[in-house]
Amino acid sequence: MSHDRLLRALAREPVDATPVWLMRQAGRYLPEYRKLREQAGSFLTLCQNPELACEVTLQPLRRFDFDAAILFSDILTIPEAMGLGLHFVAGEGPHFHHPVRTPDEIARLTVPDIDRELGYVPAAVELIRRELDGRTPLIGFAGSPWTLATYMVEGGPSKNYAHIKKLMYDAPEALHQLLDVLARSVAAYLNAQIAAGAQAVQIFDTWGGVLTPAGYREFSLAYMQAIVDALEPAPDGSRVPAILFTKGGGPWLESMADTGAAALGLDWTIDIDAARARVGDRVALQGNLDPAVLHARPAVIREHVRDVLARFGDGPGHVFNLGHGVTPDIKPDHVAALVDAVHEFSAR
Ligand code: CP3
Repeated sequence: MSHDRLLRALAREPVDATPVWLMRQAGRYLPEYRKLREQAGSFLTLCQNPELACEVTLQPLRRFDFDAAILFSDILTIPEAMGLGLHFVAGEGPHFHHPVRTPDEIARLTVPDIDRELGYVPAAVELIRRELDGRTPLIGFAGSPWTLATYMVEGGPSKNYAHIKKLMYDAPEALHQLLDVLARSVAAYLNAQIAAGAQAVQIFDTWGGVLTPAGYREFSLAYMQAIVDALEPAPDGSRVPAILFTKGGGPWLESMADTGAAALGLDWTIDIDAARARVGDRVALQGNLDPAVLHARPAVIREHVRDVLARFGDGPGHVFNLGHGVTPDIKPDHVAALVDAVHEFSAR
């Protein structure tokens, strides 16, 4: 039953072993990824070509016994489709040629036509589902409106979020207008992934943790709630589980659980037993090993895996993951040690 471990755990049903997948399980730590990316010329080419996106999605599944595939793409495809001009600066991460900072610039944004501007994403989902042939479930994803807005307003990665926080405090109605168009775009984008075959969806709220508690509710959580409410059933009529991941969201787990999401992703700044005590039987929990543990030797990795599993304890509803993505400097053998330890120590 390994093929349905993930979906059973998200539904808080019993499993034969704890399912495991890793954020950024495809990517630069794999030599076969680096080779394909070099041939393709750029990261965006990999994302925008369904055959290549499919191949990169499957690469980690050939090496490791993962219980889920995650679509290979990026959260910034939506602002790219809105015309902001996404490009990657080596060593610096993503940037936009046309950031949006003023109410006028925000008012001109519209929800992209998914088929026309982003059709390569559902096309990749269909292809991956066909290749997986029921062996492993496929997770689709998108960025949260707040996290997308930080990149769109800052123009790239930021240390202190000066531009978007100025907008939030000086012109909250303009920021709400931006978040609203993003929430409608993300809902349409995730629904296109679901229609194409995504069996679970994760919303990455990478920068929700930089907000105050009141700011988080008003500018991040409210829009993730709107997205969860707008998700459509799968083609077979079943409900598609949503996973909410706010990095730094530990203080707000109760209100995250109130959204109706099936699962919450935890970073490494909260113990999973403490999180479970707070939201326990309302949602499944995903996480939460410190990604830096993957630098340690395999015997140490195994002990930390054992600790997270023991802290979660018995009972249903655990999806093993890191607290954030795999970094490019990790040895593939260390990922194998993690995955195998999860299955070995959790086998029922
Ligand atoms: O998890 C997976 O394996 C699926 C693929 C995936 C990517 N990006 C591939 C990628 C997912 C789920 C994302 C989400 C994403 N993208 C997030 C949210 C998750 C998180 O990490 O918090 C964010 C904030 C982005 C924006 C983004 N795209 C960043 C910060 C970067 C890294 C830039 C850098 O130079 O390190 C990217 C590029 C990116 N997205 C890469 C990959 C594999 C690296 C591209 C490359 O250089 O080959």
